[in-house]
Amino acid sequence: MNDLPLYFDYAATTPVDERVIQAMVSCLGASGNFGNPASSSHCYGQNARTAVENARAQVAGLVGAQAAQIVWTSGATESNNLALKGLAQGRQGGHIITSQIEHKAVLDTVRQLEQNGFELTLLAPDAQGLITTEALRAALREDTFLVSLMLVNNELGTVNDIPALAEVVRQHGALLHVDAAQGAGKLPIDLARWPVDLMSFSAHKVYGPKGIGALYVAERARPLLQAQIHGGGHEGGLRSGTLATHQIVGMGEAFAVAQTLLEDETRRIAHLQQRLLDQVLSVPGVRLNGSAGQRIAHTLSLTFGADVPDFSKLAQTLAFSSTSACNSASNAASHVLLALGLEPQAARQTLRLSLGRYTRAEDIDQAIRAIKASLQSQPFWAVAQG
Ligand SMILES: Cc1ncc(COP(=O)(O)O)c(C=O)c1O
Repeated sequence: MNDLPLYFDYAATTPVDERVIQAMVSCLGASGNFGNPASSSHCYGQNARTAVENARAQVAGLVGAQAAQIVWTSGATESNNLALKGLAQGRQGGHIITSQIEHKAVLDTVRQLEQNGFELTLLAPDAQGLITTEALRAALREDTFLVSLMLVNNELGTVNDIPALAEVVRQHGALLHVDAAQGAGKLPIDLARWPVDLMSFSAHKVYGPKGIGALYVAERARPLLQAQIHGGGHEGGLRSGTLATHQIVGMGEAFAVAQTLLEDETRRIAHLQQRLLDQVLSVPGVRLNGSAGQRIAHTLSLTFGADVPDFSKLAQTLAFSSTSACNSASNAASHVLLALGLEPQAARQTLRLSLGRYTRAEDIDQAIRAIKASLQSQPFWAVAQG
């Protein structure tokens, strides 16, 4: 274990919290809560149903929603697909607004809708990586029926002002979907107050298991939303399939733990982030991408200038995410960084470090040492490209 690089990729996924593992295991074996939640005729099913509904309340509790507004899915990708396709289906065209810096789970879905005759506007972020109400207002059209904007950007850690953007959408009469996969558990979300119609969540970004997520559906959106997976009519007909009790219970527990820890964990991670930033920003030519103020503490996108880390050397010490696709077949620069105005070369000289529940102060110090030790005056891919 000690030879593994330090984990600095919590934005990609998180390990499952021990408390969550315990809760999940209790739903698996013959002496556990293994029944089918749809088997209402016996106690095995009834107990599983109780656990599922308890988890629904836990997920709702973290985000200020009602339990009845939470629909289980397989993750934020499916939630985004259900929200966007589910609202578009049954309409004869119309205009959809989203942004250039959304996750591919939104971008690829709206592009699919574009192929089916819908018109699309992709808002550009401002220099801070934020979507402004001015940009949104300017893009709204009479036939705009749907807007989809993320709460927290997965590469930059920047936070859109969703309550303000939601107000603009509501006044216009359109529906707003928010991809909150990177926001839940990291900052307060209050769906009782925010005029948001649909919101996507994922368990594995919040120390829960992979393969489970949820879509918040407000009453206003419910009659307009069409199921994308048909079968036994589960989840009020919105998403069929036997409910995965252990996954759902895991997500519920993960969100409940996140709610308990939210304030303390955020404060601790902000402190660690500052320690990291103070050191890394003292390296000549390094800059932080995206707003310095309107951001979560957990995710940092750093572009290197004069001296650039040797990414493969750094990867021996740190598990981070690189938008330099040096090892990938496509060698494509990040669409988020390009939208922010970075040159492709600068986008490739960028690394994302994301901190989380198990990041310690000594990990930060080791990360700083590793970054400094890996710096070289010319990036190897620049040499390779001549
Ligand atoms: C902003 C955002 N949306 C959606 C997803 C997809 O989530 P899932 O892995 O649960 O499908 C991710 C995960 O990387 C994400 O960061």
